[in-house]
Amino acid sequence: PEKIETIKSGKSYFYELGLDNLVKKGIDSGNLIPTLDYEEGLKDADVIFLSVGTPSGANGGFDLTYIFDAVEKAAKYIKDGAIFVQRSTVPVGTGQRAISIIKATNPDVKFTYLSSPEFLREGAAVIDSVIQDRIVIGGGDKGASDKVFGIFKDIENMAEEICSETPEISKYANNNMVNNNHSGHSFEDKCLTTCLESAELIKVCSNTLLATKITFANNVARVCDRVGANVTEVMDGVGMDRRINRSFLYAGLGFGGGCFPKDVKGLISSTEELGVDASFFQKVYDVNMEQVDYVVDQIKGMGVESGSRVGVLGLAFKPGTSDVRVSPAGRLCKALVKSGYDVVATDPQAIEESKIEFPQENGFRYVDSVEDVFKDVSIVVLATDWPEYKDLDYEKLSELMKEKIFYDSRNFLEKEKMEKIFNFDNLGA
Ligand code: UGA
Repeated sequence: PEKIETIKSGKSYFYELGLDNLVKKGIDSGNLIPTLDYEEGLKDADVIFLSVGTPSGANGGFDLTYIFDAVEKAAKYIKDGAIFVQRSTVPVGTGQRAISIIKATNPDVKFTYLSSPEFLREGAAVIDSVIQDRIVIGGGDKGASDKVFGIFKDIENMAEEICSETPEISKYANNNMVNNNHSGHSFEDKCLTTCLESAELIKVCSNTLLATKITFANNVARVCDRVGANVTEVMDGVGMDRRINRSFLYAGLGFGGGCFPKDVKGLISSTEELGVDASFFQKVYDVNMEQVDYVVDQIKGMGVESGSRVGVLGLAFKPGTSDVRVSPAGRLCKALVKSGYDVVATDPQAIEESKIEFPQENGFRYVDSVEDVFKDVSIVVLATDWPEYKDLDYEKLSELMKEKIFYDSRNFLEKEKMEKIFNFDNLGA
């Protein structure tokens, strides 16, 4: 109820660049009507989008409780001819179960069920929603999918207006266009129709393959550390092959957030349920989760003894967000504490959320300022690649330290410059 009230007041209940503007526009125009009442929301709807959370369940698979609960409640009120579009990230087979629930709850209603996963990134979610990278629609017939493609096309036609209203978004818009494989192609070129099951798999497979690229780079970083090669150079070279491309080959602390870890685990779980060997996906997950321990070993290798104080820069799972779910930075803090270090950490946005996800304890506390992270510590570790940390006055900050040691776990800072100030090391170089 509080979330609905916040939206009614024309605001989003979490931070996402440009979203407040869209919510306000919707409320002011009367086109956006937040309600807790399924009947009010759905009784006249031609198209219903289901965008419900699918967190990790107890066995590692997706917890579909919220999805099926919403489907059952919605089923009572959908009108004849309605199109039901699943946007949530779900395991393959969910659509068929949802269809059965709708039929059991409302046996006489005629409806079409489609799966149309979204591919937006936190921090660039508004622009990714307006100018979609690709539009996948699975299931149903041509009439139904064309109707939904039409809605997305109408939204894309608003791109210029939305970008001009939130100028910071244009920065992402340009990035999006540059990174977008389909840039310069028509809207129709970005559209793909598939069967229901394929559409469901496309979302989890996309995320798992991107996660696999990251894990690959992180594994190569460990090889580089042994032989004196540089993982950034290696991936620059590998990524120049257009069949591979450079994106998601940046070695670091590993992938985190509310999507990749959950989706890889979800794919493992549904693969196993189908009786198919999931060890490849499992290894991707395991190597990723070990990455923080690898970085702790690197820190030990720099001669920082257990019991020393360590400063950590960054807590969010990636820059541009306050989200700390499965954040490698928060997990690093906890791994350092476990190894006997005394840890102080900060972040430009994520301290409050971190306090809940990674509570303070003996030997681990949050500080508000970057200065406090450097004060009296033996080493500082960069854990999240916030642009704010790129050009800090490291010379001056180093004066506050007990020992001048620095580890860049995101390969983000200029090595040559940092080496002049610190006993400096970074991942895979
Ligand atoms: C991800 C996908 O990129 C979206 O396409 C997808 O729609 C979304 O999940 C979702 O399923 O909803 P997001 O979780 O916002 O988006 O974050 P990413 O930008 O993909 O980053 C994920 C993690 O990988 C971060 O911890 C980031 O630091 C890490 N990463 C990313 C690397 O360590 N190296 C890289 O080269 C790229």
